Amino acid sequence: MFNNNTIQRFNNTETPFYYYDMDVLRNTLDACRDASSKYGFHVHYAMKANFNTKVVDAIQSYGFGADCVSGNEVRSAIEHGFDKGKVVFAGVGKSDKEINAALDADIFCFNVESIQELEIINELAAAKGKVAGIAIRINPNVDAHTHHFITTGLDENKFGINTWQLNDVAETLRKCASLKFLGIHFHVGSQITDMEVYRNLCNRINEMQDWFEDHGFTVKILNTGGGLGVDYYNPDTNGIADFESYFKVFSKFLNVKPGQEVHFELGRAMVAQSASLISRVLYVKNGQKKNFLILDAGMTELMRPMLYQAYHAIENLSQNSKFKIQKLEENQSEIVNPKSEIKYDVVGPICESTDCFRKDVDLPQSYRGDLIAIRTAGAYGEVMASNYNLRDAVQSVYSE
Ligand code: LLP
Repeated sequence: MFNNNTIQRFNNTETPFYYYDMDVLRNTLDACRDASSKYGFHVHYAMKANFNTKVVDAIQSYGFGADCVSGNEVRSAIEHGFDKGKVVFAGVGKSDKEINAALDADIFCFNVESIQELEIINELAAAKGKVAGIAIRINPNVDAHTHHFITTGLDENKFGINTWQLNDVAETLRKCASLKFLGIHFHVGSQITDMEVYRNLCNRINEMQDWFEDHGFTVKILNTGGGLGVDYYNPDTNGIADFESYFKVFSKFLNVKPGQEVHFELGRAMVAQSASLISRVLYVKNGQKKNFLILDAGMTELMRPMLYQAYHAIENLSQNSKFKIQKLEENQSEIVNPKSEIKYDVVGPICESTDCFRKDVDLPQSYRGDLIAIRTAGAYGEVMASNYNLRDAVQSVYSE
């Protein structure tokens, strides 16, 4: 991701910024398209993971659909050229204004999360003389074995309709003439790398589609949600998510009937490795117990470590590149990373104790002005930035 030219360019750029490597993004999208198209699966990109214009344009150019969770995401997806027949709208709290806008845009499907929401969409669609395509989001009570803050498919979560309510759902659907039932929707959580979780999900989807068919409904769409995780520990060696294994599980265990479509809503796996947050060391504070690297980026630019104790690899680009150049000058062909000598708590400038990217990070001796890369920041990074402390908006820089 970083060659000496790139680092030279960073040296002349104001920090902090998100650096997008468009080759990494395209390689990831190629892998996702190739692995999914083998089985005829349909992938919708979960816009919430990153709605940076250049990133979204690249994704749209592949012909993927868009999974949106707000009226603005629906509008943005359509403005970016996503086919409205491939736009879906999810979320537990869609406002009337958002539902009306999505009805006006003639999107493909609303993923509906409660019985009351079914009634409201029906009412609003009827008022416009339209019929809304809907899928029922079912809470499958499948444990994603991921961080509890990003688990969504358990009974105790607010998402989806629980299975004990399905009789009421069926009754409501029969009454609502302005709704067209398209299928069933699931999403069990995010950053899932254990394929067993998806196997369990397939079993639940199979049971649920039988239930609907037994009750007289035709299930055209099986929407399995998203959640495929990436390797935050090895962004270079293991950069591209394991799309092959992921889609293979569904092809093997999902009971797909003739005429059915299988839909996926991937966010993180499509964009996470394509960006790093680049910042500079403002100050080095050597204490008796702790050494601190104080960066010019903090929780306002990348919130994940503070919000979910999420791990992101951290590199000192200036010291690593100096070391590489020195080795090349010494004519040593083998380039290894400099010996990690010091443990630093890598922190941001925000007036909050929680503003820490990670404690005890092994890094080469670091100095004021060194460039620091926080890796795997393409998903839920820039989009979750804020201007708390009245900070400047974070900038983006692209490889091309
Ligand atoms: N579909 C639904 C209904 C979702 O709620 C989500 C994500 C996705 C698809 C896409 O999931 P993905 O493939 O990206 O895992 N901010 C957190 C992640 C929150 C995920 C929310 N839902 C983080 O930084 O880890």
